[in-house]
Amino acid sequence: PISRSICCSISERPLTSSVTPAKDLPILKVPGEYGLPFVGPIKDRFAFFYTEGRDEFFRSRIRRHNSTVFRVNMPPGPLISSDPRVIALLDAASFPILFDTSAVDKRDLFTGTYTPSTSLTGGFRVLSYLDPSEPLHAPLKKLLFFLLSNGRRSIIPEFSRAFASLFSSLESDVARAGKADFGPGNDQACFDFLARALLGRDPAKSGLGSDGPSLITKWVLFQLGPLLTLGLPSLLEDAFLHSFRLPPALVRADYERLADFFRQAAAGPILEEADRLGVSHEEAVHNILFAVCFNSFGGMKILFPGLVKWLGRAGGLVHARLAKEVRSAVRANGGEVSLRVIEEGMPLVKSVVYEALRLEPPVPMQYGRAKRDMVVRSHDAGFEIRAGEVLFGYQPFATRDPRVFDRAEEFLADRFIGEEGERLLKYVLWSNGPETEGPTPENKQCAGKDFVVLVSRLFVVELFLRYDSFEIEVGSSPLGSSVTMTSLKRATF
Ligand code: HEM
Repeated sequence: PISRSICCSISERPLTSSVTPAKDLPILKVPGEYGLPFVGPIKDRFAFFYTEGRDEFFRSRIRRHNSTVFRVNMPPGPLISSDPRVIALLDAASFPILFDTSAVDKRDLFTGTYTPSTSLTGGFRVLSYLDPSEPLHAPLKKLLFFLLSNGRRSIIPEFSRAFASLFSSLESDVARAGKADFGPGNDQACFDFLARALLGRDPAKSGLGSDGPSLITKWVLFQLGPLLTLGLPSLLEDAFLHSFRLPPALVRADYERLADFFRQAAAGPILEEADRLGVSHEEAVHNILFAVCFNSFGGMKILFPGLVKWLGRAGGLVHARLAKEVRSAVRANGGEVSLRVIEEGMPLVKSVVYEALRLEPPVPMQYGRAKRDMVVRSHDAGFEIRAGEVLFGYQPFATRDPRVFDRAEEFLADRFIGEEGERLLKYVLWSNGPETEGPTPENKQCAGKDFVVLVSRLFVVELFLRYDSFEIEVGSSPLGSSVTMTSLKRATF
């Protein structure tokens, strides 16, 4: 049965060679219903946030419908979403329909069934909310490609500088208090790194000082609050966070401080490129701000604690292998970390990064509106979809699909090494597309795909150049995991 194959913690099935579903599957109506207006969506919202929790919410419905494709309301619902009804896609076969821009429209679906007020983004609908068919999508995406390539020579040195400073402060905290909270120092290192590498500006020497991370975190809360839990009593939290929008005026002054920093930082080559692409200076500034603060900082704020968590749990043997691989490759390169040495000499580093991105894609929910009537196929059946219906994918259920991945729920450090590892890369989807494909002005794949993979590898490299091993404690937080370092063992070889 479908439910057995998808929901169980460890796969009992052999690895299948392909997830391309058979053409002759039965064609079914999508199971599930939305319930009464208002009541149905609020019931689903409570189950999602409080009574079941995110993973169990989907797992229990897979069991109930005996299907990985079904109808459900997605939060927030009333009074924020005008229409919370979606069709959930929860397996590796059906999920990729969301990447097909000829089949789905991505307009205004970045955060799901509601859109945050544009007054949080300078009055503009920024790139993440645009469908490729909209005229500004391609020029804005090209502008971000320019931003990333403009900073490419600074990435390795600035990363090393920012994270050396993070690691030394973690070490002194561990020495003093026996533990160190990874999150706040990581936030500061990520923002300093992004500003210095991509914009050539040091926040410490600007009006922002060290306030960048806290200004951004509050601004992100105003946009994503309807999708988060903060751990407050459920009725109170649901009323204040999921039923009404937080007024943008409360964060306007903070946003203006960020915008001032970005206006000054973009002056020069970035705005000259905007001129060439026909993008106005203000639209360029707010888009660069969003890409750096929301897409990049927000992504790294979730991804790096996740990496530390999975690596920490992987234990001493994996640490020793990583330390050996990283140090011998860097030594053989005259002591220098370079793109080539990472690409060619560190297969285990590459594999563990893909494995963390597979198990816990930092942006787990994707949406698209069907452009036409069509049939979407799971492993077991085809489902009739009508034009205008919203398709929703919860990505961890596609990238932990036991019909693709052996021992799908486990962190296997070597999973992506060798020929079999290469073959599996197309099922790694964190960037809103297969890992074997890349972002273009015509698709919706993450503009920062290569950059994210590179900084994740750099993180692992810096960690194991410096430490033989480390230990952690893990808790949860509104965005990703909260990680505390409890020991850091300095390199002995
Ligand atoms: C889009 C993930 C970092 C720029 C996306 C999407 C995902 C994603 C899932 C598609 C969202 C959707 O349409 O439903 C991530 C993760 C990151 C990260 C997990 C880090 C851990 C970055 C960085 C940039 C960036 C560093 C820097 C430029 C963008 C842009 C889009 C996008 C501009 C919209 C693309 C388009 O409209 O064609 N990202 N991203 N992201 N990302 Fe990233």
